[in-house]
Amino acid sequence: MTMPLPPTTTIARLTADDMDRHLDDLCRVLIDSVEDGAAISFMSPLSQEAAAAFWSDSVRPDVARGDRLLLGAVQDGRLIGTVQLVLAMPPNQPHRGEISKMIVHPEGRRLGLGTALMQAALRAAKDAGKTIVTLDTRSGDVSEGLYRRVGFEVAGTIPDYAFDPDGIQRHATTYMYRYV
Ligand SMILES: CC(C)(COP(=O)(O)OP(=O)(O)OC[C@H]1O[C@@H](n2cnc3c(N)ncnc32)[C@H](O)[C@@H]1OP(=O)(O)O)[C@@H](O)C(=O)NCCC(=O)NCCS
Repeated sequence: MTMPLPPTTTIARLTADDMDRHLDDLCRVLIDSVEDGAAISFMSPLSQEAAAAFWSDSVRPDVARGDRLLLGAVQDGRLIGTVQLVLAMPPNQPHRGEISKMIVHPEGRRLGLGTALMQAALRAAKDAGKTIVTLDTRSGDVSEGLYRRVGFEVAGTIPDYAFDPDGIQRHATTYMYRYV
């Protein structure tokens, strides 16, 4: 089911220049989500410098090359959510795309933004000629339910995969896939 977005929100593809303009918001979404307990590779506390380095040094060059597509949910000029679709794959997997770092700011959740970002990413994958999209997510998270609802199937679960951001407990990850 597609829920209508809040009327002032748009889902847009971000260029490398757009990333520079939205850098503070990208960092805010990442830092506040890690503080909120999100399992998105980083440990808490995540510094502004480390967050900025992630966006500017790791993600931006891929976006500039077209190897990675970055989508943003923008509300009244402020970026409040984002998702990435990795397009550049090994030579034997040109048909596969990979979803990464789907994050909505804690204050913007449960309004349908995550679902809208994912649906836009799936459309973009299809437009890019991909036929299958894969991802992994902490088992049992809200995200897992969201991914199932938009048609992802569970491939399998790996226990003890990563630490929660507080460094105390480890969690399992669930690998999922969807044909597009
Ligand atoms: C996963 C995540 C991106 C979802 O973002 P979101 O914008 O809240 O997603 P949606 O609003 O589309 O859906 C989330 C829930 O809100 C519900 N919802 C959506 N629109 C709603 C509305 N208008 N009113 C009430 N509930 C609504 C959905 O049914 C869903 O329900 P659930 O909590 O029972 O599963 C967000 O929780 C997040 O950023 N988590 C931390 C980062 C993370 O773990 N990312 C995944 C990495 S793999």
